[in-house]
Amino acid sequence: HHLGLRLRVCMPADGIGPEVIGAGVEVLKALSDASGGFKLHFEDYDWSSETYKKLGKYIPDGGLESLKKHDAILFGAVGAPDVPDHISLWGLRLAICQPLQQYANVRPTKILKGTESPLRKAKTGDLDWVIVRENSEGEYAGQGGRSHRGLPWETATEVSIFTRHCVERLIRFAFEIAQKRPKKHITVVTKSNAQRNGMVMWDEVAADVAKEFPDVHVDKMLVDAMTCRMVLQPNSLDTIVATNLHADILSDLAAALAGSIGIAPTSNLDPTRQNPSMFEPIHGSAFDITGKGVANPVGTFWTAAEMMRWLGEEQAADRLMRCVETVCGNGILTRDLGGTAGTKEVTDAVCAEIRRSY
Ligand code: NAI
Ligand code: MG
Repeated sequence: HHLGLRLRVCMPADGIGPEVIGAGVEVLKALSDASGGFKLHFEDYDWSSETYKKLGKYIPDGGLESLKKHDAILFGAVGAPDVPDHISLWGLRLAICQPLQQYANVRPTKILKGTESPLRKAKTGDLDWVIVRENSEGEYAGQGGRSHRGLPWETATEVSIFTRHCVERLIRFAFEIAQKRPKKHITVVTKSNAQRNGMVMWDEVAADVAKEFPDVHVDKMLVDAMTCRMVLQPNSLDTIVATNLHADILSDLAAALAGSIGIAPTSNLDPTRQNPSMFEPIHGSAFDITGKGVANPVGTFWTAAEMMRWLGEEQAADRLMRCVETVCGNGILTRDLGGTAGTKEVTDAVCAEIRRSY
């Protein structure tokens, strides 16, 4: 099936979001023009912390319903210096992910050509991992409350919610990903020694689901030991599945080990495909570099490739990633990767490489 028939949503939001999403759309247009194969139509959504400050909400009435008519959302980042982070995160990003049942957050990592890992022995192509994060409940379910505010005995609870249904659907999706990858290897990460309820259930559900995938090799790790393994034996890992909180932390570690937070993409997927999925670079709105033209657009290019892959345009996705790697390999790198190029220079170089590749 072809992308041409449907609309995607473009939601740059805050900080460097508009800069990197602008670059991402440019590169997708270059890809679509050069291929002649598919057409891209983006509808621009201006939901951001600016609209929140004006209207008191991030999502206008009827907003979610209008999102549902589309087949994918390309998202920048949300967060502003004068809005508390829990308001912006819950007001926009989680307010989309949760009702649209984007229950799987998928984060690939790899050391791209031309980039360097802080791990001395890691080389190009290493750290080829996919982290699958539970994205609908767990530690970020929003259960809990605060009593006796401001008093010395103020009490706050943050309750983790693990339901068999949600754990099982997520773990099964992770096994499906592992099965499609050459190594057919999955590591199930929990903390079932200390957290003896929810995490023990995770281990049990994982053991049950594993029976459906006899060709996938399974191993288990506690999350603390997992951080050591990622650093010390990175090539012993392939697909990784973990809870919302654990995978959030592990995937930032993965991004840093792969060279920069400016490279990594993430997909918030509704694997049932009843709702649009949302694709975003993992970095935030980066106020410190906003408006300077130095943001690394590679995270958004990889994000765009993941979006194309999810929508069935595998070849275009692979081509885009090859072009990105060629440009990085030629040393056209932003400052976070030790280079001197700006966002525009990298974007122009990738567009030129796409045209050259056809
Ligand atoms: P951040 O990812 O925005 O920035 C961390 C550091 O990495 C900064 O020094 C920044 O300049 C650098 N950086 C990030 N992206 C880069 C890029 N593409 N190229 C070059 N350098 C880059 O994380 P931080 O500072 O913790 O958060 C800033 C705001 O973003 C906060 O409001 C936070 O809540 C929000 N945030 C939003 C996310 C989202 O929308 N999914 C994810 C993470 C943070
Ligand atoms: Mg994070």
